[in-house]
Amino acid sequence: VPTGLLQISESSTRERGDQENALKFSLVLPTYNEAGNIAEIVKILSQLLDGYLPGQYELIVVDDNSPDQTWKLALELTPDYPQLRVMRRVDEKGLSTAVIRGWQVAQGEILGVIDADLQHPPEVLGQLLQEMEKGADLALASRHVEGGGVSEWSIIRRFLSRGAQMLGLLILPEVISRLSDPMSGYFMVRRSAIAGKSLSPVGYKILIEVAARGRIRWIAEAGYVFRERQAGESKVTWKQYIEYIQHLLRLRLSISARFIQFCLVGLSGVVVDMGFLYLLSDPSTLGLPLTRSKIIAAELAIINNFIWNDFWTFGDIARRQPGKRQRLKRLIKFNIICLVGLILNVLLLNVFFNVFNLNRYIANLLAIGLVTFFNFWFNLKLSWRV
Ligand code: GDD
Ligand code: MN
Repeated sequence: VPTGLLQISESSTRERGDQENALKFSLVLPTYNEAGNIAEIVKILSQLLDGYLPGQYELIVVDDNSPDQTWKLALELTPDYPQLRVMRRVDEKGLSTAVIRGWQVAQGEILGVIDADLQHPPEVLGQLLQEMEKGADLALASRHVEGGGVSEWSIIRRFLSRGAQMLGLLILPEVISRLSDPMSGYFMVRRSAIAGKSLSPVGYKILIEVAARGRIRWIAEAGYVFRERQAGESKVTWKQYIEYIQHLLRLRLSISARFIQFCLVGLSGVVVDMGFLYLLSDPSTLGLPLTRSKIIAAELAIINNFIWNDFWTFGDIARRQPGKRQRLKRLIKFNIICLVGLILNVLLLNVFFNVFNLNRYIANLLAIGLVTFFNFWFNLKLSWRV
């Protein structure tokens, strides 16, 4: 078992050594007590994939030392299935990390996951692979698009599933709204979309982690009907719901971290602006005219903010664009965007105050809030070019 950060490497071992035999597709089957299903699923998947990608795929069973000895049964299958590999984990547990550990040893360019209990119909793999061929970064099997559904779910389970989705939409809208079935555990992703990203999922929902942290532009979906279990039993308990909420909150914080840093830097700018306004314009100090003092103070605040943002907020990006010229370019763009933001601030303040008749301070707070988003977004996209 590889240890350390949960990261996937840029290129697979097989690709590095031997271009000819590069594997196209690695499919991970996480298992815990699936003795009654493992032989059947390996057989079906092998037949299917021997048809689609002969010799260019691998199946990776990742078993958490199941008491029913699923790992042993899987190992016994390997002589008959040359594309099958088995990982038995003894010092780590959990569905999401099992999937990532499998991907870490995988050699394929496309990484996939499917439940080993036959609840995910294997036939859908063909459609998902086609979508990846067309250029999708992520292809998921969904119960909530045409051709999808659940078989015999109780009202309560349907309600819980949809409730979890709604909660996701509230906490993490920019990620969850892109997926019709964010709870799906049946999907594939391009290695290059997640290579080098630190993945740290909690609990069951590895798809959300991948969609939130990966470089995912194109998402494709294919409908599937979630089948009933024939053998063994589900491992889901109330604990998975708690972990799901934890996971959403953790992703929210880490995705918003940059924006929070940007806001803190903005606050430091207010202090600089105020301080210099005092030093320059106060009768007890330099006593310069107010407007002239304010212009200088504002410009110094902008430079202060730039320095902090370039080293801290967007430091990771700035380090990839080294050199004095590049930094000067970023400073000029940052300056222009902040000035446009200032004009926008004045305009919005007037609209909120005069048109909507808001209290002037509330109007100004709203305007500042909106302009902060504006500044953040345009600086991210133009000054630091993400
Ligand atoms: N290695 C490992 N470790 N595998 C695990 C673990 C674990 O701790 N827990 C579960 N698995 C394996 C199971 O053996 C099975 O192959 C697969 O993960 C799914 O587990 P189930 O317990 O059968 O989950 P489920 O049927 O309730 O939920 C599935 O359907 C959801 C759709 O509602 C999961 O696949 C979800 O990912 C999926 O979104
Ligand atoms: Mn299941």
